[in-house]
Amino acid sequence: MEEILAKYRIESSLSLADAAEEICKEESVGTWTELKTLEPEIQKRLSANVIELDEESKTATIAYSIDEYSHEPGGIPQLLSFVAGNLFGLSLLKHVRLVDIELPSTIVKLYQGPKFGIEGVRNLIGVKKRPLIGTIIKPKIGLSPKEQAEVFYKAARGGIDFGKDDENLVNQAFCPLLERTRQIAEAIDKVKEETGRKVYYAINVTTRADRIVEVAEDALSNGATCLMVDMLCAGYAAIRALAEDGKINVPLHIHRAGHAAFTEDPHHGITMLVLAKLARLAGGDQLHTGTVVGKMKGTKEEVIQTNDFLKNEWFGLKNVFPVASGGVHPLLIPRIVGLLGRDIVIQAGGGVHGHPGGTEAGAKALKQALDAVLQTIPLEEYAEDHKELREAVEKWK
Ligand code: 3PG
Ligand code: 3PG
Ligand code: MG
Repeated sequence: MEEILAKYRIESSLSLADAAEEICKEESVGTWTELKTLEPEIQKRLSANVIELDEESKTATIAYSIDEYSHEPGGIPQLLSFVAGNLFGLSLLKHVRLVDIELPSTIVKLYQGPKFGIEGVRNLIGVKKRPLIGTIIKPKIGLSPKEQAEVFYKAARGGIDFGKDDENLVNQAFCPLLERTRQIAEAIDKVKEETGRKVYYAINVTTRADRIVEVAEDALSNGATCLMVDMLCAGYAAIRALAEDGKINVPLHIHRAGHAAFTEDPHHGITMLVLAKLARLAGGDQLHTGTVVGKMKGTKEEVIQTNDFLKNEWFGLKNVFPVASGGVHPLLIPRIVGLLGRDIVIQAGGGVHGHPGGTEAGAKALKQALDAVLQTIPLEEYAEDHKELREAVEKWK
């Protein structure tokens, strides 16, 4: 029988087996006490069951009946309501961490997943093998649409492939989304005319549930080449609504602002791996997963495990481009590529717009750092005859 498996690490004064039973009851047919209303047939068909206990790692694997899920096409919100529902607040359990989930193919196939994946994004801009480099326009908020597009244009001229709004820039009065989209689209065309290079830019369409598809479609009619969603702010259902809308034919860039509230505490919460599985299911084409070496927390093992999941086969769904972002600057490029490989989008905000020579020089330095890595030349040596990289080395070494 096909089941949904969820692996939890549990800390409790109860035995691991009893604690896991509490989760089974709470998240399927039961509650804290016996029920007069619970017929044996319901119990047999729908109760969750512990299928494995590992005392050493304090983990329990629980199998949820596919019937708990499959007859109601409630998508990821409903899935979360049991695999990650009330259990986190049960007073009998001191800490619980959802370490991993395994979904059977019948469930995964209910979803369309990403429309583009790594290959689709690469085809769009014609970059076959190397890592992509991008920038988050800074300051995070405050620029007008025209200024935002000018900064992006300079970065694109300097050599980046990709640009994006920051997580907190949406549709504020000082930078209306549609006007920003139009200005950015013009900048993209100008870069194409002047350099022959195709670049793309993620417009942050994060908004309320009843508006997001409309905002996204409006952005597309105004020339958007990629759309961004803050997945934990808008919810997975919002990503899926965009991914499964036939009119939305650009990649979805998925930001994870707020993830550390779930992922950071090693004893409690939800791992980034689980959040990444849901993002792929929902249809994200690019997902922030961490850098290992930048300003944000996240261990090497965690980032590599998550990225491997995103890049590998999963019941026929397209793969997802992992994004390394947060505190990145040119000097970190060799380590990021060494750790995370070539199928990666590497983004720098401060590491481009904080360059002593400004945005264009910052983008050039980022590209020069990547070129050095691809030619296996040490950065310091490559910097000898690349001015912008030399200035970056001096500033950030
Ligand atoms: C991340 O979650 O990976 C980082 O917070 C940074 O994301 P950003 O660069 O787009 O904001
Ligand atoms: C963030 O919000 O963390 C960023 O967008 C990444 O910016 P940074 O490259 O300046 O850290
Ligand atoms: Mg940001």
